[in-house]
Amino acid sequence: MLDIKITRTASPKAKPQDESKLGFGKIFSDHMFVMDYTAGQGWHDARIVPYGPFQIDPATTVLHYAQEIFEGMKAYRTADGTIQLFRPDCNAKRMQDSADRLCIPTIPEEDYIQAVKAIVDVDRDWVPHADGASLYIRPFVFATDVGLGVHASHHYTFCIICSPSGAYYAEGINPVRIYVEDDYIRAAPGLTGFTKCGGNYAASIKAGELAEEQGYAQVLWLDGVEKKYVEEVGSMNIMFKIDGKVYTAATVGTVLPGVTRRSCIELLKDWGYEVIEGKLAIADVMKAAQEGKLEEVFGTGTAAVVSPVKELVWKGEHAYIGDGKIGPVTQKLYDTMTGMQWGRLPDTKGWIVPVEKVY
Ligand code: COI
Repeated sequence: MLDIKITRTASPKAKPQDESKLGFGKIFSDHMFVMDYTAGQGWHDARIVPYGPFQIDPATTVLHYAQEIFEGMKAYRTADGTIQLFRPDCNAKRMQDSADRLCIPTIPEEDYIQAVKAIVDVDRDWVPHADGASLYIRPFVFATDVGLGVHASHHYTFCIICSPSGAYYAEGINPVRIYVEDDYIRAAPGLTGFTKCGGNYAASIKAGELAEEQGYAQVLWLDGVEKKYVEEVGSMNIMFKIDGKVYTAATVGTVLPGVTRRSCIELLKDWGYEVIEGKLAIADVMKAAQEGKLEEVFGTGTAAVVSPVKELVWKGEHAYIGDGKIGPVTQKLYDTMTGMQWGRLPDTKGWIVPVEKVY
């Protein structure tokens, strides 16, 4: 159990007036959680302090070699004012897996959850009230040794910041267009694809920018070896409903094990759908589209929730999905996930964790 020291801000910021215009990750709440790690001592000095800049030596390891990992979570406000989290244990465990791969010391699951609950509790007034808006939570750990040698750092900082946010895509729940990337790759066996490390995202930016210039919301990554099989999209996992069955890439090292992904798979199976986690060739996706069997395509992610795709382009060939509108399974998943998260539907799966008022 962490002993968290709380220092409240003397100058609280004005909260956003119009919650319909929050955007994603643009404004931040009054406080942040911080904890330090020193080799030989472990994690220490857990604290909540006013949100503000870190002073960092220019030779700090993370600035040069990107020894950094992060998570993405949300806190939701229900109609009765309860503030709640969705499967925080999954994020805690995934951060441990990311930490292990990046040679970063792990944070015990109970400490991680305690820290998330504490910062959300202190800044609970920042959890939006508007429909579809939530408090996006960004836990991250970065290496703070000073020096230019390429080694695991002996010092780290764990920080959690919170951002009242709306939909991740400007399109909201409206279907997006996705560019299938045939040149750059995101991951390959043995690399860091399964982790949430900043470097994965840095390496993806170029392809994302090029796709955006052509009017596509994001890139769909193919496997890094043969560039043949679908893996994931920039900020979410992706699922394909073809001829009644749902296909998605297996999380075998190159694909991020998304919390929304696994939740959607559980729901789909509960509803009687066959879900195939494995290799799906992009050529077969395009063929299914031509044959009228590509019924629905949707992304899943914490930020994006469940996000319909209306068009894919691969090597100049276009696949149009359904009638360009959100499909029934995508809609049902979206309604069920957001229903549980915002407390409109009962939590039949034991996924919801309330944030009690302690501070
Ligand atoms: C999330 O869905 O929480 C993510 O971390 C994706 C992010 C890169 C926007």
